[in-house]
Amino acid sequence: MDKIVIRGGERLIGDVGVSGSKNSTLPIFVSCLLNEGENVFSNVPDLRDVQTIIKVLRNLGVGVSQEEGVYRINATEVSSDEAPYDLVKTMRASILVLGPLVARRKKATVSLPGGCAIGARPINLHLAGLEVMGAKIDLRHGYIEAKSDGLKGATISFDTVTVTGTENLMMAAALAKGRTVLQNAAMEPEVVDLANVLNKMGAKVTGAGTNVIEIEGVKSLHAVEHRIIPDRIEAGTLMVAAGLTRGNIKILQCPFSEMEMVVHKLRESGMEIESEGDGIRTVGTKRIRSVDIKTQPYPGFPTDMQAQFMVLMSLARGLSVISETIFENRFIHVSELRRMGADIRIQGDSAIIQGVESLGGAPVMATDLRASASLVLAGLAADGVTEVSRVYHLDRGYEALDKKLAKLGANIERVKEGD
Ligand code: EPZ
Repeated sequence: MDKIVIRGGERLIGDVGVSGSKNSTLPIFVSCLLNEGENVFSNVPDLRDVQTIIKVLRNLGVGVSQEEGVYRINATEVSSDEAPYDLVKTMRASILVLGPLVARRKKATVSLPGGCAIGARPINLHLAGLEVMGAKIDLRHGYIEAKSDGLKGATISFDTVTVTGTENLMMAAALAKGRTVLQNAAMEPEVVDLANVLNKMGAKVTGAGTNVIEIEGVKSLHAVEHRIIPDRIEAGTLMVAAGLTRGNIKILQCPFSEMEMVVHKLRESGMEIESEGDGIRTVGTKRIRSVDIKTQPYPGFPTDMQAQFMVLMSLARGLSVISETIFENRFIHVSELRRMGADIRIQGDSAIIQGVESLGGAPVMATDLRASASLVLAGLAADGVTEVSRVYHLDRGYEALDKKLAKLGANIERVKEGD
């Protein structure tokens, strides 16, 4: 296993490009199950989670090849409708194959994803929506067994905003008979990117990006070409890196218009963030101001930026409160940040952060994707050396983050554990 070793204190200076979005790539790759022919995708990030969804698709008999970052996905010959536990347990987003498989093959056997470090993350809303559309769902020996004589359009109201729930049912509805209305739907940009791909395939999806999405089912869909949108969470992570090091960076391929709340909160903390030519100029400040945040579904402050923002607040002047309303256990990074000298107390779903003068480098352990990013960020700002172990968590959602940061001047390198 690798670890990342960081000697803190270097200001980040220079240009850096944002990779394609993980949370767009995953549902879009799965949507190829809905058509026959060769789908071609560019700007695909090289991530562990992308490799995992490719394994899941290949296990279904889908052809997947790639050449210099261009992926070709051909689901003409889908020979199985099973997503096994050993794959689904490594990445819960594999549940996204459920809707498309039921829509295309009228049945699916998909392992229940089980728990996760950041919360129970049930999928009851995915299943309930499919049942409303006429699927018969049985849960047996840790698997979801879904059958249907042909899905029918229906009106589905989500009790809770669910991103992959919205995506799963949008894909299922694309080939259902009749009209489906998703109410209280997720409005994330990745949902919109998926809807755009489905419409390119010949689907009839309207309202994506609002909380009511309508899908008029069609008989069949065809293969498409598409460029994956940039990753707004990676972009936000890079902005925080500049904020932590009084850096001055220009972020290229930045999905600026999808980051209003994150940019608003970073500006409140004292950062200067402005469009400049083909990028976004992002400048850190000496005096980081404390800012309160509450995570919410898009367009609110994204839960996937919570851990990163907490690192910035740990060095702010004054007290800040971060409320995590999406997941019940997404403060795992707090104990590691405390070991670096952060003054953070947890009360219920809130973390109360008293800014400190400095953090101290330390050996720390990553536990989930965004927590691992927050530990790397803390290392950039800390005095001395920080070693982040179990960086395979980081590799799930960040493409060569250590290299990108090194190019900006960070003293950071990836080494084998034990070196
Ligand atoms: C997506 O996860 C993202 N993953 C997550 O990103 C992100 O944190 C999350 O949305 C929230 O924005 C992908 O897009 C692949 P949810 P998802 O269903 O869809 C509850 C990252 O770091 N819920 O929107 O699994 C659930 O427990 C990852 O890139 C139900 O109760 O999240 C949670 O409290 C982490 N029943 C809330 O809804 C359900 O059937 C939001 O979950 C479904 C969800």
